[in-house]
Amino acid sequence: MILVKTASEMKNITKKWKNEGFQIGLVPTMGYLHEGHRSLIRKASDENDRVVVSIFVNPIQFGKNEDLKSYPRDIDHDIAVCKEAGVDAIFHPETSEMYADGFCTYVDMTDLTEALCGKSRPGHFRGVCTVVNKLFNIVNPDKAYFGQKDAQQLAVIKRMVRDLNMDVEIVGCPTVREADGLAKSSRNAYLNEKERKAALVLYRSLLMAKDLLDGGERDSRIIIEAITDHINKEPLAKIDYVEIVDAVSLKKVDRIADDILVAIAVFIGKTRLIDNMIYEI
Ligand code: PAJ
Repeated sequence: MILVKTASEMKNITKKWKNEGFQIGLVPTMGYLHEGHRSLIRKASDENDRVVVSIFVNPIQFGKNEDLKSYPRDIDHDIAVCKEAGVDAIFHPETSEMYADGFCTYVDMTDLTEALCGKSRPGHFRGVCTVVNKLFNIVNPDKAYFGQKDAQQLAVIKRMVRDLNMDVEIVGCPTVREADGLAKSSRNAYLNEKERKAALVLYRSLLMAKDLLDGGERDSRIIIEAITDHINKEPLAKIDYVEIVDAVSLKKVDRIADDILVAIAVFIGKTRLIDNMIYEI
């Protein structure tokens, strides 16, 4: 496994692989790798000849008052995880390598980025699209792997690739959860014992929504109210949003007739967690 720090070296390596006829899979991450990331890496290994994992805490996708400084990092652990998973190269650049002085070019998507996390984290998806675009240009992957855990991110990246005619296939991968249902996330590391228990309200409220939908409920308002009531009963939880949107356009749905995404963002103490469920009609 090679640890690559510069864009030019990464480009040379993947160019060589391409010339040798290898298919390349890319798994973009911000590190502190857990079982969710591992599942993406496994799928990439199954479907490609060479796998690159990028590890880069991307400053431009964090808001001013967000957790860029405290975002958990453990590169030695990440290297060990990647080695064990049979990754061929880790791309781990410095911020100055990705954003040289005078950097001023961004990928700015409208519409899809205005709902859900885009509303409460202005500029977040501009940062995500810009860095993912750069990673695609540097690695030139045939396929790139993203988790359903970040449902809006997955939808946004798919749309960017379509809108900008990018030559990469986006593969969505199911959410990996802890045994009790909490979605795995690097940010779970922020939770103390009480908060860790309280964080279960996210998954439980999604299960409740599923029960209502299974029972034939098709009024979004009623489902949103049930989720909201359930989360509000947990003293450590504060809702950022609870929404039901069309699974593709991410537009709000009042009367459910097509596949939907139930998406929630909740502060548990100071930690903002997200979770979601696709429900197929
Ligand atoms: P990060 O939060 O490190 O996540 C990297 C990838 O792992 C994302 O595609 C995310 O959806 C996926 N992932 C995280 N938790 C998961 C889980 N429990 N189950 C399945 N997949 C999971 O998302 C980012 O980094 C960044 O925004 C990035 C795309 C790297 C751009 O900076």
